[in-house]
Amino acid sequence: MDKKITVEMCEERKTPPSVEDLGFGRTFTDHMFVMDYESERGWFDPRVVPYSPLEIDPAAAFCHYGQTTFEGLKAYRAEDGRVLLFRPDMNAARFNNSNERMCISRMDPEFFVRAVKKTVEVDKNWVPSRPGTSLYIRPFTIATEIYLGLKPSSRYKFVIILSPVAAYYSQGIKPTRIYVETDYVRAIKGGTGMAKTGGNYAGSLKAQSRAAEMGYDEVLWLDGVDREFVEEVGAMNVFFKIDGKIITPSLEGSILPGITRDSVIKILRNWGIKVEERRIKIQEVAEAYQQGSLEEAFGTGTAAIISPIGELKWNEMEMKINGGEAGEVASKLYDYLIGLQTGRREDPYGWTVEV
Ligand code: PLP
Ligand code: COI
Repeated sequence: MDKKITVEMCEERKTPPSVEDLGFGRTFTDHMFVMDYESERGWFDPRVVPYSPLEIDPAAAFCHYGQTTFEGLKAYRAEDGRVLLFRPDMNAARFNNSNERMCISRMDPEFFVRAVKKTVEVDKNWVPSRPGTSLYIRPFTIATEIYLGLKPSSRYKFVIILSPVAAYYSQGIKPTRIYVETDYVRAIKGGTGMAKTGGNYAGSLKAQSRAAEMGYDEVLWLDGVDREFVEEVGAMNVFFKIDGKIITPSLEGSILPGITRDSVIKILRNWGIKVEERRIKIQEVAEAYQQGSLEEAFGTGTAAIISPIGELKWNEMEMKINGGEAGEVASKLYDYLIGLQTGRREDPYGWTVEV
């Protein structure tokens, strides 16, 4: 798609907040990207415009039936001032997989990356530079056909918004406390678990709220059939280090194929560390804990980066992992990944893309 992206600049630029007040996802930049779709025309009118509310008809399909998809990636400020994206082609590919699952028209992946780059370029001054901060990029699609019958929409809006962010979890880089959810489930094979779509997250809020009330940061989901196998955490994929080996649940269709997950597996294997992608029972994790061989657990995600897990609570069992401290592998991965993403380290993988 070689369509020209038009740019309408805002009249007055806002002042980006100070890095101390960033948190995650509450402040947005001066501009956003918008593009429309009609089944007779395909995608049309790609434009960067001043950030503003969208005008939505109350009968728009997504308001009722949740036909939406989204992505999450970040732009990082390098020490020399350059702005870098991390594997945006992977987000483009996953976006199309999600779109395919949700019956939303696919988008040319190269155009997706071009739209992201253009939007970030216009608001480049918003990319923070303090370690641990970045500009979070949220592309999403909503079904906008005005119709209450249940069918795939013939109209969509694709939007990209940008938010300067610091750590995802409010406690910063301190290890998280995770509640293993045994009542509610997130996804089953054949469902939408592998797609990045709003309903997966809406359905997870009940368990997450209950865990938060009990003082936990997130839930760890188990498989939707037997509640036996580990799936993923609310906003992250999960890794365990047991007896020197790294184990992460395999992609069986019910968990999100994380881009950080994929990067971490490649980095670890490059370091000569064995990584097993396979189904893993929570019972196996608990037994390893009891035998003293559960050495580390951590989550991986764009928002969460590498997030050490300090505690896992499963039924009556409280597993304090590595004394509640960040483990060696998680810490080393965090440093290395951030180094790559911010251009501080040489990138042997060709993953970073300059804006
Ligand atoms: N799992 C879920 C449910 C997520 O929302 C995310 C975040 O995007 C991830 C895993 C990690 O994916 P990624 O590393 O691509 O951000
Ligand atoms: C991300 O990490 O990009 C996500 O989309 C997770 C979201 C819950 C913040």
